[in-house]
Amino acid sequence: MSSDSKTRVVTTYRLREMKARGEKISMLTSYDYSMARIVDGAGVDVILVGDSAANVMAGYETTVPITLDQMIYHARSVTRAVKRALVVVDMPFGTYQGDPKVALASAVRIMKESEADALKLEGGEEILESVERILSAGIPVMGHLGLTPQSIHKYGTYSVRAKEEAEAEKLVRDARLLEKAGCFGIVLEKIPAALASRVASELEIPVIGIGAGGGVDGQVLVVHDMLGINNGFSPRFLRRYADLYAQMTDGVSRYIEDVKSGDFPNEKEQY
Ligand code: KIV
Repeated sequence: MSSDSKTRVVTTYRLREMKARGEKISMLTSYDYSMARIVDGAGVDVILVGDSAANVMAGYETTVPITLDQMIYHARSVTRAVKRALVVVDMPFGTYQGDPKVALASAVRIMKESEADALKLEGGEEILESVERILSAGIPVMGHLGLTPQSIHKYGTYSVRAKEEAEAEKLVRDARLLEKAGCFGIVLEKIPAALASRVASELEIPVIGIGAGGGVDGQVLVVHDMLGINNGFSPRFLRRYADLYAQMTDGVSRYIEDVKSGDFPNEKEQY
């Protein structure tokens, strides 16, 4: 955090300025201290403590099982490391889709116990009352439309969303509603590029895409996917910037060899 305040260098206000001047916003996930140090140190604008932690950290098939306590644990580990980026935390499934008072209580817990900067919620009109209640407490909220992985059991597939006109029009309406309510940004996941670009040009708040093309205000990826730690997931929208699965496997294999052969530790590596 900056020395003279309790806010990080990147604020929701700064993201809006970036959109206004046409500067693209970079966003990546992190779930633990060590990764967050690397991601923040490299200069990313926004760090998302995504509920994708359920997949990449815990090995669940969906994001549904992760709990509020587990998200707070991940968020707290990340915020200890982050000095510059805005830290956004996903509210987990079941903590905001019902009673807005329960949503606010869950949101307050995350903010108090993790020292995050903002929260992200999946959905539009259906969760608007919860969004408004959380915003009324002064907590910044980011929307998430298009493919919303917490609804996997409703749709049964992770394929591209809003290809049909009715769903596309609902998405545009939902995006406008979220902006009007006071959300500071919206993630659009896995929708046609032309639709995402239309939403980004209609809204004043930043629109961050994942599998939503280049006509939006920024991009987000799951860090384990883009660094190739998770090598079993290769959707068309993913660009890999490293092959850490192979490099890490190689490092571990060489360590095993050195231990077995007695090469490690050598004389310089002991007291
Ligand atoms: O949980 C997550 O990682 C996300 C991103 C895919 C946007 O919501």
